[in-house]
Amino acid sequence: MVIMVYLLVFLMAASMISADTNEEILVRFRKYLSNDTALHNWDSSVALCNGHGSEWSGVVCVNGSFYGLKLEKMGLTGMIDVDTLAELSTLRSFSVMNNNFGGPIPEVRKLHGLRALFLSDNQFAGEIKEDAFKGMRFLKKVHLARNEFNGKVPNSLAALTRIMELDLRGNQFVGRIPRFRETEDWKVFNVSNNRFQGPIPSTLSNADPSSFAGNKDLCGKPLGPCKSSSKKRIIIISILVALVVILAIIATFIFIRARKDSNSESKLGDKTKSGKAFGYTDGEEVDDQSESEHYSKYKTSTAGNGELTFVRNDRERFELEDLLRASAEVLGSGSFGSSYKAVLLNGPAMVVKRFRRMNNLGKEEFHEHMTMLGSLSHPNLHPVVAYYYRKEEKLLVSDYVTNGSLARHLHGRKTPGQAGLDWSTRLNIIKGVARGLAYLYTELPGLSLPHGHLKSSNVLLDRNYNPLLTEYALVPVINRDHAQQFMAAYKSPEYTQFDKTTNKSDVWSLGILILEMLTGKFPENYLKAGKRSGNNSDLATWVNSVVREEWTGEVFDKDMNDTKNGEGELLKLLRIGLCCSEARVELRWDMREALERIEELKERETDEEYSSYASDWDVYSSRAMTDDEFSFSLVG
Ligand SMILES: *[C@@H]1O[C@H](CO)[C@@H](O)[C@H](O)[C@H]1NC(C)=O
Ligand SMILES: *[C@@H]1O[C@H](CO)[C@@H](O)[C@H](O)[C@H]1NC(C)=O
Ligand SMILES: *[C@@H]1O[C@H](CO)[C@@H](O)[C@H](O)[C@H]1NC(C)=O
Repeated sequence: MVIMVYLLVFLMAASMISADTNEEILVRFRKYLSNDTALHNWDSSVALCNGHGSEWSGVVCVNGSFYGLKLEKMGLTGMIDVDTLAELSTLRSFSVMNNNFGGPIPEVRKLHGLRALFLSDNQFAGEIKEDAFKGMRFLKKVHLARNEFNGKVPNSLAALTRIMELDLRGNQFVGRIPRFRETEDWKVFNVSNNRFQGPIPSTLSNADPSSFAGNKDLCGKPLGPCKSSSKKRIIIISILVALVVILAIIATFIFIRARKDSNSESKLGDKTKSGKAFGYTDGEEVDDQSESEHYSKYKTSTAGNGELTFVRNDRERFELEDLLRASAEVLGSGSFGSSYKAVLLNGPAMVVKRFRRMNNLGKEEFHEHMTMLGSLSHPNLHPVVAYYYRKEEKLLVSDYVTNGSLARHLHGRKTPGQAGLDWSTRLNIIKGVARGLAYLYTELPGLSLPHGHLKSSNVLLDRNYNPLLTEYALVPVINRDHAQQFMAAYKSPEYTQFDKTTNKSDVWSLGILILEMLTGKFPENYLKAGKRSGNNSDLATWVNSVVREEWTGEVFDKDMNDTKNGEGELLKLLRIGLCCSEARVELRWDMREALERIEELKERETDEEYSSYASDWDVYSSRAMTDDEFSFSLVG
């Protein structure tokens, strides 16, 4: 007995030490919100609840204890961090009505004790998973009105035993209305203005007819009777059969044609084929033979014609001739030109990159820009070591990096037995990329696009898989037409739609990179030429497909096999990716915010965190029944 008491005290003390206070939890929750000035007075040093209520805007306290959040009409957007909310053991009511939240419905079932959920008047979209409300046995009020939900109403919602308010109006729900419980004590029931069809379940036959208005094909009490004559059915079935036959014929025809087409031309996006081209440059296949010839011609034409200018002082000097005399190997050919690896005699291996598409910047200005690049120094930047200037073309010289580009590791052909990048490596890479990018933002405030060309083939990996950014800050020296057609920042929605880039365009590229790393999928239109080819809708489609799949949980790259405890973190990174690639610039995070969020990610949840989380819930669930009858309304 004595031992047990001690153990209990010990456990309680342990959970008190490691668990955050409600104040701290809410401050953490706020971090994933954007446009949140309405919450400026959230301050963890001010007590959440006092005798009269709360000094925190949007916080609801009842009898001096935290009860719920009422964050309504605040212009909020960003991400609802449910995992953090779930740490609030007494959260009973949650409202974000009338804000600008989008994306799929948050995973509310993690909030086991919730009584009331108000998400109306936002832009939440997509299908709601079948088990989205499973196990929420205290839930009484669900308000999802005027969002963009579609698909069927999940059975877990219909199965809630205590529900008495349900507002689904103004969405795109389809299918039959499920069998909700008897309507007698419903306080709110309204499914109007959706696309429901079929018979209304008998449990709802006493509801007000206006609750069903604006659905095209509902029938049965309280609406008119369902008529289904067998004659009608036969007609419909025969039409359907005819349609299926016609479709089958068309499909066969298309299939045959498609096969012919694919035989006659090789596809650019073919993963195995282009694996090599991801090495150093922009992902075009390169013809080694002719490029090598070109290089040797190049050697003869430039030899003795000028000299290399070093922009870094920490390197041993060599001459252009040393480079030209070195054995060269073509690394790849990209939109700017080709890259070669040159191994100096008794010296290091260097990469020489030829730029054929620079603008007409004079020698002085070019030198100035390169010197500025050479002065940058950060563990996640691949430094420019030297350059060679000629009017028609320029060479940039940098160190050779062993592990090639991130793109190659994500999409290239794997040698058998070679493992893909695991989660902790990817997280490390993302953190490094974000740090490098943030460094560029602080060091180059004068550039509207401090990087300009961030994408997976421009992230090199060193021996220890630390990321090194390359091809940064080149916008001022690249031919403008060419930049607009090929550089990553010019694929951003603001450029494709409004012809302008902003200082958040690089953040957008970062978002796309994050999504690419998490899904292992290559963003389609990087393979294709830019704006002019009209392919930008592909990238938007690609992002949407990621959002959709987050929904089914199948989005993550299977190569990350070490995520066991880190799945929450993985999901957070996914949301960060989505917040960074937000199409609307004003809602997109800025660089500082993106970096902060990324830095907060952990490789995995620690054991202590996990157990304090679990014990919170144990304490909670034994108490939850007693005050359940307490009713609290945020509406009306
Ligand atoms: C709050 O306090 C009042 C008066 O003390 C009491 O009647 C009410 O039941 C309390 N509510 C809750 C939820 O504890
Ligand atoms: C940001 O919030 C304010 C209110 O705080 C709102 O008026 C504005 O529309 C919001 N902006 C966006 C882009 O959501
Ligand atoms: C249901 O909502 C519609 C608006 O979509 C409204 O006209 C109707 O009166 C509502 N009915 C009930 C019973 O709330």
